[in-house]
Amino acid sequence: GPEIVRARDDLRARVDAWHADGAVVGVVPTMGALHDGHLSLVEAAKRDCDRVIVTLFVNPRQFNNASDLDTYPRTEDSDAAKLAPFGVDVLYAPPVNEVYPAGFCTTVSVAGLTDVLCGAHRPGHFDGVATVVTKLFTQTKADRAYFGQKDYQQLQVVRRMATDLDLQVAIVGCPTVRETGGLAMSSRNLKLTAEGRAAAPALAREMRDIALQLRRGGALDGLRADATARLLKAGFEKVEYLELRGAEDLELLDRAVGPARLFAAAWLDGVRLIDNIEV
Ligand code: PAJ
Repeated sequence: GPEIVRARDDLRARVDAWHADGAVVGVVPTMGALHDGHLSLVEAAKRDCDRVIVTLFVNPRQFNNASDLDTYPRTEDSDAAKLAPFGVDVLYAPPVNEVYPAGFCTTVSVAGLTDVLCGAHRPGHFDGVATVVTKLFTQTKADRAYFGQKDYQQLQVVRRMATDLDLQVAIVGCPTVRETGGLAMSSRNLKLTAEGRAAAPALAREMRDIALQLRRGGALDGLRADATARLLKAGFEKVEYLELRGAEDLELLDRAVGPARLFAAAWLDGVRLIDNIEV
């Protein structure tokens, strides 16, 4: 399996040696509980890069809910085992004080893009993401970094931040990997009950149906109310948002003009599920 590294300086020594050899270094940032979605990013990194680092860090600063942080799955041994067949060079799994030393008081904050969707419902979340991703980039010194479209707003925030701060890392977005029924893979799916697992694919199904109608020129208003009613009937507790937005700047749309995406967040079994698809 991959070598497990916990100290930034040990990581840097390896990366400096790789760079001295002219190697292209890729990083796949994760919070662990790895599934095929994460592994698809690892495959993409292995295709493009000479050396690949997977990071495993459950970042406390991006959790706006204490119980979500406490119950977030922590499965390092099985994560390392899942990475073994992929030829990952290093699994970087630092303790919290290696990322946030005593007295840490710097925040990276991306304006605008983070006001909507998950940013509107999870105060501080994207500041936590932008701050930790900046740290992971500077700690790993990677040349390329791989992110899933599953968290599309996160991908756009990271792209904006890398451009704005002249971070010398190429950001690569990769398609969402889904279960057979269409449910987007997520570490939080592990928290669903058996009933929840059965009901969960309804979210992706409703989104696909709405996207079809939007492509035919329909408006989201109206479609949203029916889809929400069906999701509540299927056992969802709440639909937090269901919105059509521009694919680059995430501006609100009612009809699909230009590159657009449909975004949803909904609660099931007390678990917050998110998804998005191209329209
Ligand atoms: P995490 O939720 O573990 O996801 C790590 C990466 O895997 C992210 O880029 C995410 O978009 C991608 N991913 C998750 N599910 C996926 C799926 N079904 N298909 C494709 N890619 C998927 O996202 C985070 O961690 C954190 O916010 C992080 C970027 C690591 C910063 O802490």
